[in-house]
Amino acid sequence: MRIDIITVVPELLRSPFEASIMKRAIEKGLVDVHFHNLRDYTTNKYKSVDDYPYGGGAGMVMMVEPIDKCITQLKSERDYDEIIYMTPDGETLHQGMANAMSLYENIIILCGHYKGVDQRVRDHFITKEISIGDYVLSGGELGALVLADALIRLIPGVLSDETSALTDSFQDNLLSPPIYTRPADYKGWKVPDVLLSGHAAKIDQWREEKAFEHTKNRRPDLLDR
Ligand code: ADE
Repeated sequence: MRIDIITVVPELLRSPFEASIMKRAIEKGLVDVHFHNLRDYTTNKYKSVDDYPYGGGAGMVMMVEPIDKCITQLKSERDYDEIIYMTPDGETLHQGMANAMSLYENIIILCGHYKGVDQRVRDHFITKEISIGDYVLSGGELGALVLADALIRLIPGVLSDETSALTDSFQDNLLSPPIYTRPADYKGWKVPDVLLSGHAAKIDQWREEKAFEHTKNRRPDLLDR
């Protein structure tokens, strides 16, 4: 998968791709991430990428021209499965979306800043608008990182068997059951006997029951999906 991220603050994006699973995925050649600084696509001498809103009001608006130049350049080089705009009024990201999008070959993620982008960008380029939750961030960059992480870990070959995504919370609309590691008894706080029993079928059943119970208590809405 190739991910092109368009931003006015590329320095916000780099370090998460330089550690842990995302770094390994890049090293293995399973994902290719490119950052594009919108200021490199401006034609005005101040390198500004935003301007006042028509009709007045607070905040600045990201201008259509640099975004057009950047996206048009990228689209001339390859086909994209989706051109995504990170925005609080987009569709809220969930695991099902991540599963579907992890199969894509090329995506562009546009990070909004200030009050957002000129509506004409959304009308003419954007194919999907995604929010990471009902709160407002200072820009789309952190959302883009969340989306990239959620997708990259699902690409076949990125996770090893031990970290398999198949047992993650949400993967079957259930939250994960409790997990334990050694020691079996710490200050009298004991690991449930069934997990030490070596009885695989019983362990599976216990995990299923706990996952269901946990989901019912915390996120009953997931059980209705
Ligand atoms: N930009 C600002 N807030 C956001 C959010 N909640 N999700 C995605 N992008 C955003």
